[in-house]
Amino acid sequence: MKENLDLHNLPEHVAVIMDGNGRWAKKKGAMRIFGHKNAIEAVRDTTEACAELGVKYLTLYAFSTENWNRPKAEVNALMELLVMTIRKELNTLQKNNVRLMAIGNLLTLPEGCRQQLKDAIAQTSQNTGLTLVLALSYSGRWEIMNAVKELSRKVAAGTIAPEAIDESLFENHLNTHSIPDPELLIRTSGEMRISNFMLWQLAYTELYITEILWPDFRREHLYEAIYAYQQRERRFGKTSEQINLKQNG
Ligand code: IPE
Ligand code: IPE
Ligand code: MG
Repeated sequence: MKENLDLHNLPEHVAVIMDGNGRWAKKKGAMRIFGHKNAIEAVRDTTEACAELGVKYLTLYAFSTENWNRPKAEVNALMELLVMTIRKELNTLQKNNVRLMAIGNLLTLPEGCRQQLKDAIAQTSQNTGLTLVLALSYSGRWEIMNAVKELSRKVAAGTIAPEAIDESLFENHLNTHSIPDPELLIRTSGEMRISNFMLWQLAYTELYITEILWPDFRREHLYEAIYAYQQRERRFGKTSEQINLKQNG
């Protein structure tokens, strides 16, 4: 399947809503956290495959603002798993030249978690391969509200004129300011929704939804998603004729 991919037409940024861990565990008669534990192999394989292909950014939606409303035991287990995984995977990230980043309301994460994350981000900051972006305690509306507050403060202080606010200035105040919009969004487990993920950035992203539950997701599924993306015609509001005219010179 990898051979079918056009390496000159790869998405620069792939974003993933990793969903279905709970259902995966339930199908096996296990606790939800068993599903989360088995999600790590999917993360590892997807990250490695993206790095190998030459995808520049991979964003993984790992924990949403709304996920704080889950049972306390599940939230705690997820946070512990996060710390452990970052510690365990740091060497592999280095080996694969992966730079780690995080978006979201990181101040709400437990102290140990934040520290571990900060260390890993600092230690991988010079890596030049794939940038792996973890969305943690993240939601699109939170991010937008955050940008609005920051801009309002600057307007109130007189450092920015309201007329100067355009898309590019607004984007500079999002968590993703240095990251291009994703061309491809993958959601596993068949759910047909965005669940408050990258609301601004997904404006023209191609959506790919698969029935595969996240713990079963492997590089072959990533290749399938990228292949599907490469068959699409991205029109950005224009007509098909306009797009083809441009492509044929
Ligand atoms: C995704 O799997 C992981 C997180 C949201 C943290 P879920 O835990 O949502 O699994 P389902 O949707 O209940 O199957
Ligand atoms: C979205 O999955 C959030 C993450 C994958 C981190 P959810 O399982 O929380 O989404 P809903 O509740 O089904 O919309
Ligand atoms: Mg879910």
